[in-house]
Amino acid sequence: MTEDPIQQRKKDHLMIIMEKEVAYERGTLLDGVQLIPNALPELALDEIDTSCEFFDKPLKAPLMITSMTGGGDRSGAMNHELAEAAGQLGIAFSVGSQRVLLEHPDCLPDFAVRKELGDGVLLGNIGAQQLTQYPAKRISELVEMIEADGMCVHLNPAHELAQAAGDRDFNGQLKAIAALVKHLDGRVLVKETGCGIAPLVARRLSDVGVRYIDVAGVGGTSWPKVERHRKGKLLSKAIAWTFGEWGMPTAPCVVGARRACGPETYIIAAGGIITGLDIARAIACGADLAGCARLLASRSWWGGKELDEEIQTLIHELKTAMLLTGCRDLVALRQTARVYTGELRHWLAQLDQLATSKD
Ligand SMILES: Cc1cc2nc3c(=O)[nH]c(=O)nc-3n(C[C@H](O)[C@H](O)[C@H](O)COP(=O)(O)O)c2cc1C
Repeated sequence: MTEDPIQQRKKDHLMIIMEKEVAYERGTLLDGVQLIPNALPELALDEIDTSCEFFDKPLKAPLMITSMTGGGDRSGAMNHELAEAAGQLGIAFSVGSQRVLLEHPDCLPDFAVRKELGDGVLLGNIGAQQLTQYPAKRISELVEMIEADGMCVHLNPAHELAQAAGDRDFNGQLKAIAALVKHLDGRVLVKETGCGIAPLVARRLSDVGVRYIDVAGVGGTSWPKVERHRKGKLLSKAIAWTFGEWGMPTAPCVVGARRACGPETYIIAAGGIITGLDIARAIACGADLAGCARLLASRSWWGGKELDEEIQTLIHELKTAMLLTGCRDLVALRQTARVYTGELRHWLAQLDQLATSKD
């Protein structure tokens, strides 16, 4: 297999994320979503039902392993392992950026995980920038190539600007997203990669027909921080250092996106999700599903068996939070009583003011 700069970059990213300090110091603010305990739940743990639907297919739990790898070194094996765990445990899976496949179709085996996943929800991945460079038909072929149920499109301007060879011109992305949504009949999920999708952006996306939005906010992996560890020119290095904490935390992104887009849009809470209590809080404040990347990649990296255990623990913790709030299913969890405290409360109050001043 020939190796090009895209493959080298994917390899660098994976190594850096596994070995260096790349997390935000700022948190998700999900701890500001205080769930009201129900000490009289009148429920048994076995009765708790975490099933839901995503891309018109059933999931056993509201969780997705979000886009990470493919097209470089250990990344193929990791995709297959993550997909197998997702298939066995009934959660959704998305491959990493398929950009490399546009030029190197020989990398297809790294991404072809349908067999391991079974009938589960499988999504492809591509950058919004590629949508401006290739016709929607070519992008939809990437979906077909891996027998996926739809395509994730990532927005990552802060990450690009922190990379020496990253993109500098972000014109035309919304129009290109709208074209893909039409071409794929709505089977498009738009995501950030950790800096967060703010409510107004979520609204612009839903206005052009995007029905699935992964807000991927601050609190987990910081891509500007990842770039601090790669070779680069002085200017992009300065951006990687200055903007290491850039973005909007996951919790206000979720609440804001739900308020901005209404009930029809599927909101995925990702960025710093590391416990089942995070998932419960995210769902209670407006998400349909949670997404998890680095935590699960590191379990796969350090040893196979632990990956299944980590996912089972997340689901068990979610069920525990549901029992402790007296919620038998996810419909109840979405409506459960909660109080917003601390910094999250400030975010929400000022986001409300911003929304009102725009009207
Ligand atoms: C090793 C690694 C590779 C990633 N590659 C991609 C990618 O190719 N495409 C994409 O949309 N997001 C990518 N991401 C971003 C994740 O999907 C996710 O949005 C982000 O890491 C925040 O989640 P986390 O805090 O759980 O890591 C990657 C993340 C990691 C950790």
